[in-house]
Amino acid sequence: MKLIKAVRGTKDIFGNDASKYLHITQVAQNIFENYGYEMIKTPIFEETDLFKRGIGEGTDVVDKEMYTFTDRGDRSITLRPEGTAPVVRCYLENKMYAQGDTSRLYYIGSMFRYERPQAGRQREFNQIGVEVLGEASPILDAEVISMGYKMLEALGITDLEVKINSVGGQATRIKYREQLLNFLQPIKEELCEDCKNRMEKNPLRVLDCKNEKCKELTKDAPTLVEALNEEEKNHYEEVKKYLNIFKVKYTEDPKLVRGLDYYSSTVYEIVTNKLGAQGTVLGGGRYDNLLKQLGDKEIPAFGFAAGVERMMMLLGENYPKRTPEVYIAWMGEEVKEYAFEISNFLREAGVKTAIDYNSKGMKSHMKKAEKLGVNYVIIVGGDELAKNTVILKDFVNRTQEELSIQEVVTKF
Ligand code: HAM
Repeated sequence: MKLIKAVRGTKDIFGNDASKYLHITQVAQNIFENYGYEMIKTPIFEETDLFKRGIGEGTDVVDKEMYTFTDRGDRSITLRPEGTAPVVRCYLENKMYAQGDTSRLYYIGSMFRYERPQAGRQREFNQIGVEVLGEASPILDAEVISMGYKMLEALGITDLEVKINSVGGQATRIKYREQLLNFLQPIKEELCEDCKNRMEKNPLRVLDCKNEKCKELTKDAPTLVEALNEEEKNHYEEVKKYLNIFKVKYTEDPKLVRGLDYYSSTVYEIVTNKLGAQGTVLGGGRYDNLLKQLGDKEIPAFGFAAGVERMMMLLGENYPKRTPEVYIAWMGEEVKEYAFEISNFLREAGVKTAIDYNSKGMKSHMKKAEKLGVNYVIIVGGDELAKNTVILKDFVNRTQEELSIQEVVTKF
């Protein structure tokens, strides 16, 4: 019989990967909660128009990568390619703005993009993201950048570079687009085919091209930062000032433009050179126009998302192994019930306990304990049952002692 395999571009998470996944999500949650963020969970699929209007037609995500289908009720549905548009939809639909306070939200979950799979790039992947709605201060930009950086630091992920830029507001980008097109027009024929297309649809993306020839040709292109107006420049300066206050080292990358259309003002990415071509671990920025676009509300917002699989690749051995603390080795059918009573007692006391259902010899018990990687083994045989005790073998301190079960619990 032909075995059915996972669909191309998807990945099961189990064993050590599952431990890494749990560790990453727990560290992130702790940090976000320190900063006063609350969890939000939106549906995995949405109306297709949400992403068309939110992310923008003309972007790779909307034009080439969405998992879109018609459901049985003839609606056009899309598996979410990202979390920002759904969070904004939920915020507007539930009138969260009526609370009159800044909303600080975080999410963890699967996203779907029909991309060519390779190391660090999947068709179903997980993101940890945050969105802050209702705050325009540049201090927020710096605070969120710093929080994401601290999350990666707390995971022991090093050798990271924080790249920042400002893409300004809509008026600035329209003005800059003209300047850039004037620069690109004379060299158009020398650019790659993708860039020729980008010039039509979104010329800013030409600056992001990975092709060496295009990079060389555009190295003296005018930059967006030079085109910013006074207010935008001040905002950008304040972001940099507070990044220094929060002790985040950053580099300015005037060519950094992100792949989604909703950004304005500050944009940023945290990159590593340890993941080959897929080196962006985290990306985000300010999207002050998205709430206008989706709900006619002038509400500023800022956020980021980090790829969980990319963080898992960078984690190495830097995560707690989820092994049991103790293994109960019992010998002889007559002690079976006593052994399981002990397992129940330990688990109720919060001790991670493993036990086998079948009686075994000492040698095979010890093999099992070694395989599990436990630090303690509790041995129970006929003598212990008679005295209502157990023998605790401590592999770390190489000791062995006979204790009552109440005494054992105090050892953990
Ligand atoms: P993004 O840059 O498209 O931004 O994705 C954020 C992160 O998700 C990337 O830096 C990467 O680590 C991970 N990622 C993206 N695509 C894949 C893939 N195919 N396979 C594996 N990992 C991937 C956003 O999604 C924005 N919603 C971020 C944001 C939030 N901006 C403001 N708020």
